[in-house]
Amino acid sequence: MKRIELGELTAQKEKYLGKEVTVCGWVRTSRDSKNVAFIELNDGSSLKHTQAVLDKSKFTADKLAGCLNLGAAVRVRGKLVEGMKAEAVEIAADSVELLGECPLEYPLQKKRHTMEYLRTIPHLRVRSNTFNAMFRIRSELSYAIHEFFHKNGFYYVHTPIITGSDCEGAGEIFKVTTMGYAPAVKSEEEYYASDFFGKQAGLTVSGQLEGEVMATAMGKIYTFGPTFRAENSNTTRHAAEFWQVEPEVAFAEIDDIIEIATDMIKYITRYVLDNCADELKFFEERFEQGLTAKLRNVAESEFARVDYAEAIELLLKSGKKFDYPVEWGCDLQTEHERYLTDEVFCKPVFVVNYPKEIKSFYMKLNPDGKTVAATDLLVPGVGEIIGCSERENDYKKLLKAIEVRGMKMSDYEQYLDLRKFGSVPHSGFGLGLERMLMYVTGIGNIRDTQIYPRTKNYLA
Ligand code: 4AD
Ligand code: MG
Repeated sequence: MKRIELGELTAQKEKYLGKEVTVCGWVRTSRDSKNVAFIELNDGSSLKHTQAVLDKSKFTADKLAGCLNLGAAVRVRGKLVEGMKAEAVEIAADSVELLGECPLEYPLQKKRHTMEYLRTIPHLRVRSNTFNAMFRIRSELSYAIHEFFHKNGFYYVHTPIITGSDCEGAGEIFKVTTMGYAPAVKSEEEYYASDFFGKQAGLTVSGQLEGEVMATAMGKIYTFGPTFRAENSNTTRHAAEFWQVEPEVAFAEIDDIIEIATDMIKYITRYVLDNCADELKFFEERFEQGLTAKLRNVAESEFARVDYAEAIELLLKSGKKFDYPVEWGCDLQTEHERYLTDEVFCKPVFVVNYPKEIKSFYMKLNPDGKTVAATDLLVPGVGEIIGCSERENDYKKLLKAIEVRGMKMSDYEQYLDLRKFGSVPHSGFGLGLERMLMYVTGIGNIRDTQIYPRTKNYLA
């Protein structure tokens, strides 16, 4: 008999009630008594478990051996009947087959493990409810991102992972090399000249530069893939490997791209609300009170917008004592962002027009000569989830920005060419997928949004 997924059984219960069904899954809980045994099964197709009821007069002890162990993989056949709980169904089992035994020292026991402990068993923690729910939302959110861009006429492009330039210019590139320690090599140039590419190479920190190349041919594009940063920040929201969604739009100015970013966040939030109700309820109960109402608010109400200079004023007037001093020109630290999002605006806020010195070389210089047409979207509880800007499309100004920062001009020749040949205003942004997941689920640590998180001194 063909196996039916448990998610399908519960979603289409009318179709299967009273019929013989075959299901498979891992034992999540079990109870044994003299006459009857209960097994709660999960096969990954839904957050909810399905119960199989075993009338023990039908089974020899031999047949049941190992089938009630937590974590064991089993196949159950039987009739689908109404369950005890409202809406639930259960299987009156005729047969149980042990597909994979699971000894009692299974590291996931029937108790609430700490997140720290679960991080030590990344290969098994995915079988817990929390991670089941997390990865289902991660999958749905990714799908929603593709759907949003596809519906709006964007092309999905694949930019390289190995690059020769540093998009953010922050020197946080992981080197890609096939050479080992070579004491005989006299200089850095000589070293890289004999390396695989004949020049220095690294893992991309952002697909933006190549995204701009594509946007200036195809109009509206987005990339969606892994990006890498050797940032030395050991925080709950930095990972060395994370996924970024990066749209790039020709003929768009800063306000146009802010509108697209807003629409995208609302769209994907609405998608998760509509398609992951069970998972959100779970996260609401375990991790963040009021989560669903918060997300509804995001999907339905306006985002705030504040000028960087005004944000500095708000921080100065706050009467708070911050660890990092606040003055015009300073980069906003987590504590500053927190104050703005959690105490002043209490919803997503775009901070616009940052001082040029604290932002990347490619951002368009505003007429004041001091600030750039750039914005970060900050959200309560997480901080920055989007970095966004209009790009400098003036050849001379861009050249100067590269020079001032002492960047290697030869690495940016093609990028400069875009400003030489048919230059147009254009804008884009990057959304960190894991940061968005933290916001959507209320999970407080980025390490719990990835299967195998990579952070400083940590490669599980
Ligand atoms: O603000 P960032 O550095 O912007 C860029 O990389 C631009 N090139 C994007 C663009 O305009 N196409 O990074 C964008 C977003 C951040 O807002 C944050 O959500 C996420 O990427 N991010 C990280 N997420 C996890 N761990 C890290 N170390 C991250 N660094 C950035
Ligand atoms: Mg940023």
